[in-house]
Amino acid sequence: MTILAIDTSCDETSVAVTNGRKVLSNVIYSQILLHKKWGGVVPSIAKRAHEERIDYVVEETFRKVGNKNFCSLQNIDAIAVTQGPGLAVALEVGIKKAKELANKYNKKLITVNHLEGHIYSVFVQNSKGNPKRDFKFPYLALIISGGHTEFVIFKNHLEYEIIGQTLDDAAGEALDKAAKLLGLGYPGGPVMERLAKEAGNIDSYNFPRPMLKSKDLNFSFSGLKTSFYYFLKKNPNKTSEVKLLASSFQEAVFDTLIKKTEKAIKLTTINQLIVVGGVVANLRLRKLMRDLIKKYQGKVLFPTYKYLNGDNATMIGVVAGYKTKVGKFVENIDELDRIPRLSL
Ligand code: KG4
Ligand code: ZN
Repeated sequence: MTILAIDTSCDETSVAVTNGRKVLSNVIYSQILLHKKWGGVVPSIAKRAHEERIDYVVEETFRKVGNKNFCSLQNIDAIAVTQGPGLAVALEVGIKKAKELANKYNKKLITVNHLEGHIYSVFVQNSKGNPKRDFKFPYLALIISGGHTEFVIFKNHLEYEIIGQTLDDAAGEALDKAAKLLGLGYPGGPVMERLAKEAGNIDSYNFPRPMLKSKDLNFSFSGLKTSFYYFLKKNPNKTSEVKLLASSFQEAVFDTLIKKTEKAIKLTTINQLIVVGGVVANLRLRKLMRDLIKKYQGKVLFPTYKYLNGDNATMIGVVAGYKTKVGKFVENIDELDRIPRLSL
């Protein structure tokens, strides 16, 4: 089954051609430069940029597949699209395009949850079928992105159970907001990582670790952000220590993630971890996760290739491949709509 997949859930227009777990072509047209000067994603700008770029990204994706894998819209088997969660006006663009192509070329349509896409990003293979990772269910998955911080038990293909999530801000959002308070621009995660590394990843301020004492697996990062805000207000002279502040803030977020993950491992007795979502690009976090899982003689899986850390259509196509095996196609294409708050 060759699938054309589309993801326009936030600020990346992405299209991919996949076959099973293999990616034949993937194009990501990022909008970061358009949103940067506003300090965050502006919905109306995102919508317009997706609309302006989607046709080009589809064409480019087929061009990249190349002649040796002769492939076109006529001879793909199905079209997959992200239905949610995400920005409503952005999701709409991808869904509209997917419907249009499905009708024009008489293809079946498959909807995918963006979060299940992130989970499957650790099983994506290149066109030669590498890496060869087998599925060994169950997994304990932690999704850490700009919009989500969730623990999910990945029980079997397409079977998930959410066992914890953030009650307010997501971890990536907290890093972005702290970076903004420090005047570091958007998105904040990568800059925070670089400055923290330059400071040696030390924690000199010991900012609060929210919800560590609670017995459940939920998170709350808005209190941490607020205490950071008041700290900066009370200590304006400290802003010259931007590296130490970035480092201490990042450590507070990551320490919370690690301690909660340890709790989740103990509660579920699952020591096979999947850690995904934009924040997993962070090498400090990866090291902390590896150190943690060593203690439990388990394994931690990250997305197989760098471009799969952030939003991409490849992961959507790979999920769709599993959905085709069980016949999960959209029944009424005309009625299909986006679900901005779709849950797993
Ligand atoms: O998964 P993603 O690309 O989009 C969403 O679905 O939200 O995640 C974006 C988030 C942003 O908050 C961004 O600051 C964060 O991932 N991020 C990072 C790094 N690169 C991206 N956070 C920490 N360290 C990084 N290197
Ligand atoms: Zn995402």
